[in-house]
Amino acid sequence: MGESKIFICVLATDIDECRITKVRDSCFGDCINLPGDYECRCPRGTHGNATERGGCIAESPTGLIIGLSVASGPVFLLLVLGITLVLRKIEQHRKEMLKQKYFKQNRGQLLQQLVSQNADIAERMIIPVDELAKATNNFDKARELGGGGHGTVYKGILWDLHVVAIKKSKITI
Ligand SMILES: *[C@@H]1O[C@H](CO)[C@@H](O)[C@H](O)[C@H]1NC(C)=O
Repeated sequence: MGESKIFICVLATDIDECRITKVRDSCFGDCINLPGDYECRCPRGTHGNATERGGCIAESPTGLIIGLSVASGPVFLLLVLGITLVLRKIEQHRKEMLKQKYFKQNRGQLLQQLVSQNADIAERMIIPVDELAKATNNFDKARELGGGGHGTVYKGILWDLHVVAIKKSKITI
């Protein structure tokens, strides 16, 4: 009988299995070394069997897109709604400003017109637009006295039964 030898092999450190040719050659994905083990997995964005040649299949972005759109659907909807509301508010504000501007412009003309007719009314000549509409029966065609270049003149009857001429600017808002 020959000499018997005992080999004691202590694996103090981990073997990087990914450096073993056999392992490396059988992994077609990413080889990840683990303590006492290794993992062969498909690279990011792919899935399948990494130990098979061509086993990793690229993940279709369709699923991601569908998932994202489903998740962001309500958010997107809210965003669109919000933008619409803000735009409407801005438009409303702009119209209001224009209305006020024209009201101020026309009030001057109206005042002048009325001063010659009735100083009493002219003194209280801050007439709101809805009052004018009321006075002219909502700018009734039957109340039209004539049309100038800049607008239409209506016969208006004020709350105190004063008959006045009301000129409505052509610029309608
Ligand atoms: C991956 O492919 C290898 C080689 O074809 C096969 O031996 C193994 O069983 C497969 N693994 C899975 C999880 O399908």
